[in-house]
Formats: sequence, structure tokens, C-alpha cells
Amino acid sequence: MKKLVISSGAGISAESGIKTFRDADGLWENYPVMDVASHEGFLRNPALIHQFYNERRLQLQGAQPNAAHLGLVELEKDFDVRVITQNVDDLHERAGSANVLHLHGELMKVRSMRHPERIYQLPCDQLTDKGLTTTVDTRDPYGDPVRPHIVFFGESVPEFEPAVGLVQQADILVVIGTSLVVYPAAALLQYARRGTEVYYIDPNPASVPSWVHVIPKKATEGVADLIKLLRNQ
Ligand code: APR
Repeated sequence: MKKLVISSGAGISAESGIKTFRDADGLWENYPVMDVASHEGFLRNPALIHQFYNERRLQLQGAQPNAAHLGLVELEKDFDVRVITQNVDDLHERAGSANVLHLHGELMKVRSMRHPERIYQLPCDQLTDKGLTTTVDTRDPYGDPVRPHIVFFGESVPEFEPAVGLVQQADILVVIGTSLVVYPAAALLQYARRGTEVYYIDPNPASVPSWVHVIPKKATEGVADLIKLLRNQ
């Protein structure tokens, strides 16, 4: 089976009702992005960060995977599909995608502030708060505070190397719903081997090299076109 690697961004979840980042002039749900998504912001006001991601988690409960997420699962019938996503939502997994790598962390998880390898899937009855919300007072079973398992601006992206490895093995690479402004994720495109078929689905595409086939459509429509295109090859 040919290796089909997906690189998705906020745009793929837009039609599930989750706002993107830069379509709202840098205000992420009325918060300046750097206050709620940077390491400095976390050090400055950890209570705000807990509150913000609590709100995101509750919002995510009301969202469902859309036809684009489901279309990628459909492609697993014909291809060895690997999903690399910048998104912290779990809509790819909820759609049924078998292999999902999160570059920027996962909203439904928190981790120990002292031992980052101790990661907890919410809700978790080992924590002092047993629901979907945490605070600066939440403690893990070792008595340590926790933080959202999210990669904040100013922090390293440990999953980038494995993602590069997947892109270098791809026969087909499909980039969906990203403005290609945040690095290192935006650099993944450049790691595609010569001869790899590369597609970019986005209704307002960023400028990309000429060897990229741009499908200037919303994710649900663009993925439907892609499925037809790949099955007619
Ligand atoms: N279908 C497909 N793409 C869409 C849709 C849609 N229905 N609606 C909007 N888009 C596109 C926009 O045109 C834009 O190119 O989605 C992209 C969203 O861009 P950003 O908001 O910049 O999101 P993303 O590229 O995923 O951001 C990268 O930035 O804030 C950080 O960590 C955060 O992972 C995030 C990273």
C-alpha cells in the first residue's frame, strides 16, 4: 500500500465549529494568543491558562468530526495513512484515524509539572480533580501540580523529528487547513522527497512551491475531491 501522509491544521476542524487561530486576527476566542499559548504567558498567569484550556475542553465536547476527518479514515482502505496534526483537538481520533501524531500536544491530556513524562488523559480519577477541568491546585498521584499537555510558543516540539521521518517516507503528502506560518510545522512540506505527490487543501492558501497541487477549497469539499482524484489514478 502507498504511504499517504496528512499534515493538518486548524482549518480541518473549522467546519466542526472550532475557530482557527489567524482567521480571528490573532484573538483566540477573545484572548491574545500569547497570553494563553506561550511559555511566558503560562509563567505569568497559570490560572488563566488552566481556565482557558478548561473552556477549550468543554467546547470540544460539543464538536464532532466532519466529513474531512471521516474522508481521511475512508482513505485507509486504499492507503497506509499517517496523520500529523498541529491541532490539539481529538477529532481525528474520534473520526477513527488509526495513526495520529500531535505536534502541538493534546487538549484532553495534562502532564506533571515536575515529571513531563507523566501524562494523564482526562477525565482521570488519579488526579485531585476528576473531571475535564484543572486548576493550579490540581495534584497528580505524586502530589505534583499539572499543566495542559500543550506545546506553548517558546517551547520545543519533540514530535517534529518523528513527523519529518513520516514525510520523508510519503508517496503522497496532503497538507490541509494551515496558514503555514508557524514553524517548525510549516517546514514539513520541504522534507517531501523528490517525486512525492503533494497536495494543499485550503480555501485561502498560503503561497507554496509550484510542485504543490493546490485545492483552494474548504476541507470537507477538498478531501472529497482528493478521494476522487486518488481513486481515479
Ligand atoms: N477548511 C480548510 N481550511 C480552512 C477552513 C476550512 N473550512 N477555514 C479556514 N481554513 C484555513 C485558513 O485559510 C488558514 O490557512 O485554515 C488555516 C488556519 O490557519 P491558522 O489559524 O494559522 O491555523 P494553523 O495553521 O493550524 O496554526 C498553526 O499556530 O497558534 C498556533 O499552535 C497553534 O497549531 C496552531 C499553529
